[in-house]
Amino acid sequence: MSIHHVTAIAGDFYFGDELGRPGSILTFFPWRGGRAGRHGVAQVGEVRSPPTAPAPPYCRTGGLMAGVDLEFQHRFVPGTDPTAPPLLLLHGTGGNEDDLLPLGEALHPGAPRLSPRGQVLEHGMPRFFRRLAEGVFDLDDLRARSHQLADFVEAARREYGIGAPVAVGFSNGANIAGAMLLLRPGTLRGALLLRPMLPLVPDPLPALEGTPVQIVAGRGDPIVAPAQTEALAELLRRAGAEVRVSWLAGGHGLTREDLEIGHRWLAVAGQGGGGAAGR
Ligand code: MLT
Repeated sequence: MSIHHVTAIAGDFYFGDELGRPGSILTFFPWRGGRAGRHGVAQVGEVRSPPTAPAPPYCRTGGLMAGVDLEFQHRFVPGTDPTAPPLLLLHGTGGNEDDLLPLGEALHPGAPRLSPRGQVLEHGMPRFFRRLAEGVFDLDDLRARSHQLADFVEAARREYGIGAPVAVGFSNGANIAGAMLLLRPGTLRGALLLRPMLPLVPDPLPALEGTPVQIVAGRGDPIVAPAQTEALAELLRRAGAEVRVSWLAGGHGLTREDLEIGHRWLAVAGQGGGGAAGR
């Protein structure tokens, strides 16, 4: 008997088996106010998971729509401050599109926030690209997914009417933000990279003149060696980016100092012409 997996996430449906034969698995994440279903004759059981927190009412939730450009599950929160730069929020391994929304609001209150969920699952944990081991990346996958994410950003800019965003990435999210800077200059206005590694070395180097980048690293980070941070900063500088590196005493986890550094940097860098993205 073949097993089909049918999943519905907040209204977007994926069909594994259009006949719904006995033996099909239906995974269904209901939403508040949704119509209650009923048991069919072929249903053999039901497992309930606790519902995830409902989206804040001001959020627009985008779905995984096959064949449509916006192919990342994501949240978009419109801005209330017309002078604020849009923020592209990129979570770490095991996170999701809700994680960094509060950080984004604290970094620049009133900024539009676009927050996608990484599409790779590592033991069930979302990431933005595959890795072979801790800190060893699948470079073909990283390249392909960097372009896919850049395409998503461009489609979301058209859909939501926002300018080129400043990426705010943590850990795995910082690594794909770094890869996007290096592979798709012009997509990002700048980047706040929290605990990044050197994701890849592109050939040729991109033209990133005037693109502001703030790196925040932990001297006691067990995942990112200081040499990785230095190598990334050096590569981005050679490409013309305006890079600042701030060192904290702590490890891989975010602290209040990350927020303060990011807040001060964004207040200035977020107003700039956008480097490669402004051209
Ligand atoms: C990565 O895989 O991107 C880095 O090892 C950071 C992490 O997600 O642990």
